[in-house]
Amino acid sequence: MSLTDPVSEADLVAQHSKLMSPLAWDLAHIGNQEELWLIRQAGRRPGLRPDLDPLYDAFQHPRADRPSLPLLSPAEARDYIAAVRTETWEVLESADTSPAQADPLLAGAFVFGMLAQHEQQHDETMLATHQLREGPPVLQAPTPPAAPADAVWLPREVLIPGGPFIMGTSTEPWALDNERPHHEVDVAPFFLDTVPVSNVAYQEFIQDGGYQDARWWTPEGWEHVRSAGLEAPLFWSRDGSPDGPWVRRRFGHVEPVPADEPVMHVCWYEADAYARWAGRRLPTEQEWEKAARYDPASGRTRRYPWGDADPGAEHANLGSRYLQPTPVGSYPAGAAPSGVRQLIGDVWEWTSSDFAPYPGFTAFPYKEYSEVFFGPEYKVLRGGAFGVDAVVSRGTFRNWDYPIRRQIFAGFRTARDASGGEGSWAGGSGGGAGGTGGGAGGSGQGGGADGGRA
Ligand code: AVJ
Ligand code: FE
Repeated sequence: MSLTDPVSEADLVAQHSKLMSPLAWDLAHIGNQEELWLIRQAGRRPGLRPDLDPLYDAFQHPRADRPSLPLLSPAEARDYIAAVRTETWEVLESADTSPAQADPLLAGAFVFGMLAQHEQQHDETMLATHQLREGPPVLQAPTPPAAPADAVWLPREVLIPGGPFIMGTSTEPWALDNERPHHEVDVAPFFLDTVPVSNVAYQEFIQDGGYQDARWWTPEGWEHVRSAGLEAPLFWSRDGSPDGPWVRRRFGHVEPVPADEPVMHVCWYEADAYARWAGRRLPTEQEWEKAARYDPASGRTRRYPWGDADPGAEHANLGSRYLQPTPVGSYPAGAAPSGVRQLIGDVWEWTSSDFAPYPGFTAFPYKEYSEVFFGPEYKVLRGGAFGVDAVVSRGTFRNWDYPIRRQIFAGFRTARDASGGEGSWAGGSGGGAGGTGGGAGGSGQGGGADGGRA
């Protein structure tokens, strides 16, 4: 409601970008999915408006066509979602949602968790529509605090020891199909940036002519950056003159680009090119998840970088508490055992990986959530951003998008290989013998709580 109540009727039905739906479409689509999956499928009730299904089925109408459909008006959409929610509570009150329940939609209240996540994912999409929308600001949030004093002393990168770890999950009750099942993955030792790449670091790439130098780009990336005329992150411009200071537009405010905030609104090609310019590379999805979940002290894969507790305000910038990322080095309480910060929250992080199923994947409850997107045309993003709700934020959560997309709240961090005689193994857990990436770091022998800190 806070994303739609302050918006005029005309603005709710307008299309602010070809990439996005009208806000009023998202609003009714949230209700339609809730009716379809919770009230009709799980609740076995006739439902309220099955006739609306075709209008709000994302696969029947591309976003660009949605404004011309005979959609519910904003007032009708508000009434509709309120009526759906009333019936949702009735279904949930009488349903058996125990883990032993035979219907997998109801067991552990999965369908409730799935729809809570669906709603929050569309809220983030609507936030991206707000960011693309022109005109005076309508959303308000406090300015985040400055970085903690120790941020300037953080090492640039940390070593993540090599060895196997358990990736994905089979036990997290509300994990979506693409996060399942858990499986063992062997990861060679690597170095990972302690914090996301900042705006000031990214400006050095621009200043150094990174956008004009084919050496840093993949062939497809170079073709794209030339044809689209990219010169800086989306929403950035120069103030006054062609070499004036960088400013950005953020939810209707024009403001100086904050030097120490994670860079955001870059596409995968830009992230990949920056990393190559810096003599580094993007982390793989496997590397990202090992850094975020593996605890060398216990040898166990945990839910979050900080442990198993649900995200709290001290751990990560989530839930639109601020309408921007916090400075790099924030959230020491949310750090991984290696000391890596801000893996959860602030900005989505591009990984080098294509979106692919885990071994043993089965689509549930519908192929159009994940399965139809598997393949090399989508890149995986991890960690969630400032506008992501905690219910959608897990160490296992996987997001994906085309490598050209920049309207999403995505940044990145970089990595490099550590195999081959860095000699940095002494700090790894489990004895630190050898540098071949075999098992020393992954054997879980409890070789020190700061294992892997470089
Ligand atoms: C996981 C964010 C790529 O928005 O297309 C919303 C989430 N799926 N409704 C998307 C989703 C169905 C999805 N992403
Ligand atoms: Fe949806």
